[in-house]
Amino acid sequence: MAQTPRVLILNGPNLNLLGTREPEIYGSATLDQIEADCRARAAERGLAVDCRQSNSEGELVDWIQDTRDSFDALILNPGAYTHTSIAILDALLAVGLPVIEVHLSNIYRREDFRARSYVSKAALGIIAGFGKAGYVMALDALAERLIKVEEA
Ligand code: DQA
Repeated sequence: MAQTPRVLILNGPNLNLLGTREPEIYGSATLDQIEADCRARAAERGLAVDCRQSNSEGELVDWIQDTRDSFDALILNPGAYTHTSIAILDALLAVGLPVIEVHLSNIYRREDFRARSYVSKAALGIIAGFGKAGYVMALDALAERLIKVEEA
């Protein structure tokens, strides 16, 4: 991997409402603030990032398919599609890039239906329950992995 590793940060449905959406669960930071934190950390860690959000399952699938040629890894918070979307799982398996699944809340201590993640079957790892810090943790984990691979 000769150039700066490229990471796509994808957020799924309703995450555009962060800041006002159930702040007692998801925190008070907006998605813009989270993305700004990610850009700053990526610059520190030598990663290039592109941040996108969609409420549409099909658009998320299209973006995941397109990562094949343009990205080295993916950070994904699929929102409620985590618990329902075989289409997103299949897209992740098809492209085969390293994926870190991020959730602001700890999905395992909430309603039972949130404890099943289809996406986890394609994920390198999962970070859940640390609020917005989870995205930065995911970037750190990818920097370790991608930059180590480059140096090896
Ligand atoms: C979420 C958890 C999901 O269960 C929920 O549907 C979301 C956000 C999280 O970040 O904690 O939209 O992915």
